[in-house]
Amino acid sequence: MRVPGDKSISHRAVILAGIAGGETTVTGFLPSDDCLCTLAAMRAVGAEIDPLDGQTEGRPELLRIRGVAGRLQAPEGTIDCGNSGTAMRLLSGLLAAQPFASTLVGDASLSGRPMGRIITPLSAMGARMRGQGDRQTAPLEIEGGKLRPIEYSMPVASAQVKSAILLAGLFAEGETWVVQPAVTRDHSERMLRHFGVPVLQEGQRIGVRGPAVLKGRDFVVPGDISSAAFWLVAAAAAPGSDLTIEGVGLNETRAGVLAVLRRMGVSMAVEVCGGEDGEPWGNIRVRGGALKGTVIEGAEIANVIDEIPVLAVAAALAEGETVIRDAAELRVKESDRIHEVVRRLQAMGAEVEEKEDGMRIQGGRPLHGAEVSSEGDHRIAMAFAIAGLFASGHTKVTDVGCVATSYPGFDRELARFLEGKYPVIAIDGPAASGKSSVARIIAERLGWSVVNSGAFYRGFTWAVLQAGVDPADHGAVEALASEIDFSGGIEGTETVVRVEGRTLRDELTSPAVNAAVSEIARVASVRQRMVGQFRALAEAGPLVMEGRDIGSVVFPDTRYKLYIQASPEVREQRRSAQGQNDSIRERDRSDSERDSSPLRVAEGARVIDSSQLSLSGTAEAAFEALREQGLVIS
Ligand code: C5P
Repeated sequence: MRVPGDKSISHRAVILAGIAGGETTVTGFLPSDDCLCTLAAMRAVGAEIDPLDGQTEGRPELLRIRGVAGRLQAPEGTIDCGNSGTAMRLLSGLLAAQPFASTLVGDASLSGRPMGRIITPLSAMGARMRGQGDRQTAPLEIEGGKLRPIEYSMPVASAQVKSAILLAGLFAEGETWVVQPAVTRDHSERMLRHFGVPVLQEGQRIGVRGPAVLKGRDFVVPGDISSAAFWLVAAAAAPGSDLTIEGVGLNETRAGVLAVLRRMGVSMAVEVCGGEDGEPWGNIRVRGGALKGTVIEGAEIANVIDEIPVLAVAAALAEGETVIRDAAELRVKESDRIHEVVRRLQAMGAEVEEKEDGMRIQGGRPLHGAEVSSEGDHRIAMAFAIAGLFASGHTKVTDVGCVATSYPGFDRELARFLEGKYPVIAIDGPAASGKSSVARIIAERLGWSVVNSGAFYRGFTWAVLQAGVDPADHGAVEALASEIDFSGGIEGTETVVRVEGRTLRDELTSPAVNAAVSEIARVASVRQRMVGQFRALAEAGPLVMEGRDIGSVVFPDTRYKLYIQASPEVREQRRSAQGQNDSIRERDRSDSERDSSPLRVAEGARVIDSSQLSLSGTAEAAFEALREQGLVIS
């Protein structure tokens, strides 16, 4: 599998490319809620950022950024950092050095997190900024102005604080130094170098010489090892599993989780594939087996801070004792992660003791399912989804919207992880049985894509008619099949069919297509071509696909199969209510009697008769059937 782009690196890529002179293409950007806040903030100070993958309003992964060459504009209104501590702290450093005022706000969780650690050093540089109350929490009001360089010894090892000071230092005259008590992630240093700024380094002292303007230069964000950690643990704890995650960032200040897992007895192979001059990345292969307890402490903590929740889950699944100490920092993360992790592990039956600066876990007790809330903390939500894989009975993680702060699409991967491939729900049935409406409802509820396979046959039929070929002349249709430039796929939630580059819409339900489609669908080579395309779509993500032969021929192995039918009278009424002239009975006959993939109830399919049901009633019956087939639907 692959995981989305690294969160820390994505924030920095947008900030650094945004202040640089010239243009940068960022590939593999993590379009999570957190990083999108940073993206919006950089736009607000004048950077031009365009998605290159067509995701204007959505979640772009490919960005073109034209930076402001060190001359930021005053933002209009406040800058919203959402849930992101990285955004707030890094942007503080940047904005403190600008000749304008700005205000940084965040959500409830972020507004409870301490910002004094950033205000103190920036104030020492001459910044005028303040937070609220004794704990100096957000909103942060920044006056902005000329800063002087300092040398600052960080009391707590924090990459965010270090990065904020270095960012401020880019705008101060002279050398700004940060001394770190332990090694922290060094993405900022590596990326500043990538963008043409020399970074000074003497042991644990890191510095920049200002003023410095960065130069735009294309950048590739590797996969996030903190996101990979969930799957690494899941695979490692399941004997017999063999998982390779490709394209993961392997920066050694972040890869501590690999060392911890090795100490826990995990068999692992790591292959570095590239990026030695910037951010190294490569593939990680893990095989499942028995885990044993370990100690995680001292300087290693900063390196695995985001992975502690899932490592605690691994410890509960391991034999023997695991001790996590020196990790008090976890109490001021997106939640008090020590307390919340301990409570949840206990709720699932683990033997865990909470300590001031960590926890002690006596592994090996069987876990049982429980309902656990995420407390709005994305890493807790995901860690306990993984715990649920190993618990007996039903585990329900609630309040999971926060997962999108770092891992949009996690639930899709979880479904894939459970089944070894992306799941497919196959829905077959005759025309106007209600299957396409039900398919949409199911897909929307699950967040999966929906494919209307009939649209593919219809698009192809339109092309045949357009070419003046007689649909009954199967030889001529076959000959045309290899020539037509036909493609079908999913865009957003819609099935999109293109012929010779033209996107077909109303054409698909024209009376001529209605009348001819079933004849075309009899041609075996046409069907083969479509089936190949349908299977390729299922490689990209979980699908709800509806048609005539989805459960019987296209995905005969899927566990989730429905067959939705209704009486011909009811179906004819439905079509005429839609204002469509559709030869339903002829199509039924042709579809059922043909030699190639005839319409029939697939083996294992649940039959739902929608004749007497409303659309929502049919959908409810469908959900019920899918639950019985083993699908987890909340
Ligand atoms: O689903 P819809 O009514 O739009 O499908 C149009 C026609 O396409 C069907 O009547 C059938 O002949 C053909 N078809 C098929 N196999 C599928 C989907 C549609 O043969 N999986």
